[in-house]
Amino acid sequence: MIEVKNPKTEQEWESYYDLRYRILREPLRKERGSERNDGDENGIHFALYENDQLIAVARLDAVDQTTCQARFVAVESNLQGKGYGKEIMTELENKAERLGYNKLILHARDYALPFYEKLGYTLVGPSYKLFDILQHFEMYKELTHGE
Ligand SMILES: CC(C)(COP(=O)(O)OP(=O)(O)OC[C@H]1O[C@@H](n2cnc3c(N)ncnc32)[C@H](O)[C@@H]1OP(=O)(O)O)[C@@H](O)C(=O)NCCC(=O)NCCS
Repeated sequence: MIEVKNPKTEQEWESYYDLRYRILREPLRKERGSERNDGDENGIHFALYENDQLIAVARLDAVDQTTCQARFVAVESNLQGKGYGKEIMTELENKAERLGYNKLILHARDYALPFYEKLGYTLVGPSYKLFDILQHFEMYKELTHGE
């Protein structure tokens, strides 16, 4: 059974940040703790479980009243390419629509560009370099509210 929810227990939060760390920070040789930031307090957290195993994570942040941003999207390394990334992004987009946002933006790593293009995101152009090494690209998607 697949379930996407907000982590609640201490164990669930630990696994949530651990997955984020292993997928998004460890390959860049960053220390534990670097996977968290101030936005974790106000962001909306998504954790995808299959049969109670954590498989994917994502965070939704407000940018302003009409725009929101997806951040820290990660799928367990041996389970990538099986549709879980799409599944958690769909949940995140649905939530963003329900909250009334019109636009969802994100900053994608180069190797994730085809994934987001497939999900209907438009490339704006290069944005920032994470830790001065990893080029990111700004992308956006208009939220249609079922139109
Ligand atoms: C990028 C990431 C989130 C994608 O999640 P995923 O579960 O591997 O992707 P999915 O299996 O859901 O793919 C969804 C669709 O995108 C396509 N896709 C995914 N990666 C692709 C790629 N590199 N090139 C072309 N198509 C790709 C899939 O073929 C699939 O298409 P389909 O719907 O026609 O079958 C995941 O691979 C990941 O965590 N990567 C490492 C961390 C990362 O880069 N996070 C994003 C930071 S910006």
